[in-house]
Amino acid sequence: MGLKIAVFASGRGSNFQSLYNALREDAEKARIVVVISNNSDAGALAVARSLHLPAIHLSQKQYSSHAEFVEAVLQTLESFQVNLIVLAGYMKKIDAAIIGKYRNRIINIHPALLPAFGGQGMYGIHVHEAVIASGARASGATVHIVDEEFDHGKIILQETVPVEPNDTPEILAERVLKAEHKLLPRVVRLFAENKIEIINGEVHIRKPD
Ligand code: GRF
Repeated sequence: MGLKIAVFASGRGSNFQSLYNALREDAEKARIVVVISNNSDAGALAVARSLHLPAIHLSQKQYSSHAEFVEAVLQTLESFQVNLIVLAGYMKKIDAAIIGKYRNRIINIHPALLPAFGGQGMYGIHVHEAVIASGARASGATVHIVDEEFDHGKIILQETVPVEPNDTPEILAERVLKAEHKLLPRVVRLFAENKIEIINGEVHIRKPD
């Protein structure tokens, strides 16, 4: 069976869209089956609807307890037979019960070279502000396995971009976003081809056949 992907996104959804475009040609191997957002106004949901993909708003606020919310997320994932979860700009923490159930099957894209510039408060433009303020000469994008801590799980792949002397955070963000749009589909293809193995918590990428 091919990959059935749930994308979780809170914002505009450009990574979701680039992943969708990249996978379109080989839907047998991997396809996005549902887009889930905590934010009913998310661009990602609008894009999903325009592509006739299931677009589901699931927020803690709709439920009287956290446990019920988590149960609803799990049921949604099961109903679509999801076997890979891609966090693409998802601003909420994934509950430990979901991580436990989909261990090593949840990935996140982060707009910096982790482990630097990650963790609490390091999202959106703040990341690029911090990179520039640090004087770093390079930044980039990271795709990593999601574990119980923010931006902490094992790194799968990174793509580096230069930081130019006159960069503003916005200019750097744009350069990094372009790298993200290449990197995320690359990693998902590796999953689709069973080229990623996690052995004793370490990520191993099998070489091309
Ligand atoms: C990306 O920069 C991603 O790395 C971060 O959130 C942003 C989402 O952008 N986690 P988009 O919604 O995919 O356009």
